[in-house]
Amino acid sequence: MDKKSHQDNQQELINRRKFLQFIGASTVIAGSASSLGLLSSCTKKTKNAGIGFTPIAASSKDELILADGLESDILIRWGAPINSSEFFGDNNDYTAFLPLEKNRALFWVNHEYTNPLFSSGLEQTKENAIKEMKQMGGSILEIKKSGQKWEVVKDSKYNKRIDGMTPIKFANGVKVRGRDVALGTNSNCAGGVTPWGTILTCEENYQNCWGERAEDGSVDLSQTYYGWAKHFDAIPEHYGWVVEVDLKTGKAQKHTSIGRFSHESATVALSKKGLPVIYSGDDKNNEFLYKYIGEEKDKIGKGTLYVADLKNKKWLPLDLEKSPQLKEQFKSQLDVLTYARKAAKILGATELDRPEDIEIDKQTGHVYVTLTNNKKKGNYMGQILKVAEKGDHDSLEFEWEYFTTGGDKGGFACPDNLIFDKAGNLWIATDISGSAINKSPYEKFQHNGLFVIPRSGFGAGKAYQVASAPRDAEFTGLSFDSDQKTLFVSVQHPGERTKDKSSPTSTWPDRDKVPKSAVVAITGPTLDKIVGGLS
Ligand code: FEO
Ligand code: CA
Ligand code: CA
Ligand code: CA
Repeated sequence: MDKKSHQDNQQELINRRKFLQFIGASTVIAGSASSLGLLSSCTKKTKNAGIGFTPIAASSKDELILADGLESDILIRWGAPINSSEFFGDNNDYTAFLPLEKNRALFWVNHEYTNPLFSSGLEQTKENAIKEMKQMGGSILEIKKSGQKWEVVKDSKYNKRIDGMTPIKFANGVKVRGRDVALGTNSNCAGGVTPWGTILTCEENYQNCWGERAEDGSVDLSQTYYGWAKHFDAIPEHYGWVVEVDLKTGKAQKHTSIGRFSHESATVALSKKGLPVIYSGDDKNNEFLYKYIGEEKDKIGKGTLYVADLKNKKWLPLDLEKSPQLKEQFKSQLDVLTYARKAAKILGATELDRPEDIEIDKQTGHVYVTLTNNKKKGNYMGQILKVAEKGDHDSLEFEWEYFTTGGDKGGFACPDNLIFDKAGNLWIATDISGSAINKSPYEKFQHNGLFVIPRSGFGAGKAYQVASAPRDAEFTGLSFDSDQKTLFVSVQHPGERTKDKSSPTSTWPDRDKVPKSAVVAITGPTLDKIVGGLS
């Protein structure tokens, strides 16, 4: 701060004022006043002292580094037994905390993919295929708080895996390619919690597991990492959906109503009518942002899927009756939903730069969507898109703008996972891909990080780094416990670029030859301060 010119400070103040106006009038007076007060004395302050904690610098250490006043404990790591016959899967991603009673909760964790080098073997045998399928899906865990720490309740009756081999029914009596049950769920990336107490887990890069349907009707396996299709029927249309899981019963169902694509997340809002509206992004270059508007309370049942047209600021219905031009290409509404990307293109939806996680700002109702990057189009750093529905979540019109931009301006690169805390601060986890970390144009950001953008006060609108990930890893699956004394974070894919098992690129967390994804619980006075408002 003390090296900044007066001109820079003025610009910073203007930027903050703009941000404060943007997030709402109620914070403008307090925010501007504190900004002015701090700026007038900033030459005497140490770097960033005004925000209430000291952010960390970017790092390339093979460690989980946290800002002062934060500590972490591993809640569970890859391979840990969760009951007498099942284990915690690989590459933990989305997490959801559903309280049961004080100090007891059900906890869901997604398992996105697996690295055969460590988990199975490189030969594509049936035995290895089964091993790999069992690494994916998700885990239901009961957790309890002992003292200040959350821990997994060993052998709880709730502990259960839903994995790549669990038979899962399609919801609402739907049959997909003649079958009402799919073999398992895989590629489970982010997700959501429903107002009726279930969780949603999203099937993202299903083509890596079961391929994709080719134009000629055959199954194109060119994108698969695994050899599953050598041993089981490959039906690509059984994947790429949103799966709903009741954590109390362990029952899962696949929903076709929210469309089929590389579902990153499924973020549920309630309209003023009390009906579910579910936002979801398709994490692929030049794909789309979708929302489903339900017509039934407390369930995903009858409803319509829409896709975003940013040019005309409208949601376009992926519905044969409401968009009759789809009738030339699709025989049934299920076909439209199954090949939603194709239908969205026909309607002229707006291509986006990898829409990933979505969160709703409870104070304004605005919908925040990360656009991670689109290197082919020269968008290396990504943005966060803000969608303001006209009226309510079930509106068919909206306004939009970029909330912030990655790179030098935003202070982070490649935003992926988001969460708002109770003070309305926005937490951002980044996903610079493993092969690009520490390379141009990402060198200055070093490893992936966790950042917070304070909502108000001195640092409002700027990203400050609170954590740095071990080598090759990203932070995913951000969730809070009920009082926000704990932030759960998935540390995903440390050591993913390892070529030779005898010299892994990361040894996190056990400092042995097997890097392991793990869910960590972050606590401490700095967390209390941030979620308490920082201003
Ligand atoms: Fe699984 Fe798009 O990250
Ligand atoms: Ca992601
Ligand atoms: Ca999120
Ligand atoms: Ca990602």
